Amino acid sequence: MSNRMAVVLAAGKGTRMKSSLYKVLHPVCGLPMVEHVIRSVKQSGVEQIVTIVGHGAEKVQEVLGDSSEYALQAEQLGTGHAVLQAKDLLASQEGTTLVICGDTPLLTGETLQQLFETHETTGAKATILTAVAEDSTGYGRIVRSANGEVAKIVEQKDASEAELEIKEINTGTYVFDNQALFVALASVKNDNAQGEYYLPDVIELIKADGDIVSAHIMDDMDEAIGVNDRVALSQAQQTMMRRINLMHMRNGVTFGNADSTYIEPDVVIGNDTVIEAGVQLKGQTTIGSNCFIGMNSEIIDSQIADNVKITQSVIEHSSVGELSDIGPFAHLRPNSVLGQHVHIGNFVEVKNSNIGDETKAGHLAYIGDADLGKDINVGCGTIFVNYNGKSKARSVIGDQAFIGSNANIVAPVNVGDKAFIAAGSTIINDIPEEALAISRSEQKNVPNYWEKLSKK
Ligand code: UD1
Ligand code: MG
Repeated sequence: MSNRMAVVLAAGKGTRMKSSLYKVLHPVCGLPMVEHVIRSVKQSGVEQIVTIVGHGAEKVQEVLGDSSEYALQAEQLGTGHAVLQAKDLLASQEGTTLVICGDTPLLTGETLQQLFETHETTGAKATILTAVAEDSTGYGRIVRSANGEVAKIVEQKDASEAELEIKEINTGTYVFDNQALFVALASVKNDNAQGEYYLPDVIELIKADGDIVSAHIMDDMDEAIGVNDRVALSQAQQTMMRRINLMHMRNGVTFGNADSTYIEPDVVIGNDTVIEAGVQLKGQTTIGSNCFIGMNSEIIDSQIADNVKITQSVIEHSSVGELSDIGPFAHLRPNSVLGQHVHIGNFVEVKNSNIGDETKAGHLAYIGDADLGKDINVGCGTIFVNYNGKSKARSVIGDQAFIGSNANIVAPVNVGDKAFIAAGSTIINDIPEEALAISRSEQKNVPNYWEKLSKK
């Protein structure tokens, strides 16, 4: 294997997106398009990557960080001119250079690997990744000579009637002998319909030097989509969703309705887990084996252990221990850490709290900034009053404490192990172990009130 380099084209304005967000930063399944591209490039054995940036360069660099080197294309004069900006970083080297667009998020590392292999086995100086499209609108067409060899690429805007009929398209991905690429680029002109320096023109130039130009025709045209507008963006997202969901199915995950289930690329799911319709699993989320994730649940950057049941709930930046159950309609907000066998029921909100094994909050409660031990009962309507209008404070509840319904626990307080809080109490002081705290006005009964009322 020769030295593999890559140039990622990401300087175009993306006018057709009609967006203030830089085109290659538009996300597909949660990751910016260009990040998908960089990941695939790395999987194909490329060591050195140069990303060509233009407007919004800082934003692209912020996203990609040191996973790439950068070259600035100050003016967008075309894809050929864009590659030329990598000259200082690459031109002196021997090896093979992949050129790929930042707007083709579905190309896999496997396909790029195959492209390199075709290039190496055919002894070509340039190999184009092509696909046969049902609808070739918008793409450059691959023109072949009578003997079937690739002759050149013609852009849609420059194509003749006959060339427009060609179904084999340029995916915008190529590998080149690095030296041949930079030599040919120096001769590319901009005498075409768009007045741009086209990278595809190097094909004809390399051919004219008597070198071999080959094409690697990919099987799955869906992979080749170049996202130029929001219609293509939506198609790319659909295809990516399907690809991710199929991978999980093959790993033993059951889907109620895969078409409506959105899972981002880095999510990990154990086998025998059931995912219902409308579920969204995002970011760095891990779901264990044998879990049930009920319809319309949204889980973001969270760790869910084995045998957990989640029903129609939202979980963000939190973790849930084995055999726990959440919902329906519960919300775990950031930094909630739940132990095993925890029950968080209907309309319970938890934030920045630790909840020990076997603890239960069945209904209508707010647990915020609190540390709860094991086997605690949190009654219906309990509120952890954590905010005094200026600052937040924490409360601590010991193991096996019993919190009656509709209690207010005004932080900061410490409630000892096995303490009891009577229903309706507002707790502002610490409670010792095994004590009962009752803090509510005494009940007074007025006799014969019905009669008194009717005499008025
Ligand atoms: C390009 C190809 C076309 C191919 C299609 C595949 C050319 C001339 N045409 O067309 O043959 O079928 O991709 O999707 O190459 N860019 C720069 N600097 C520039 C211009 C573009 O960095 O000056 C970048 C863009 O950010 C983008 C990529 O190059 O990532 C391709 O540019 P785009 O304008 O999308 O080209 P297409 O019209 O799609
Ligand atoms: Mg494009």
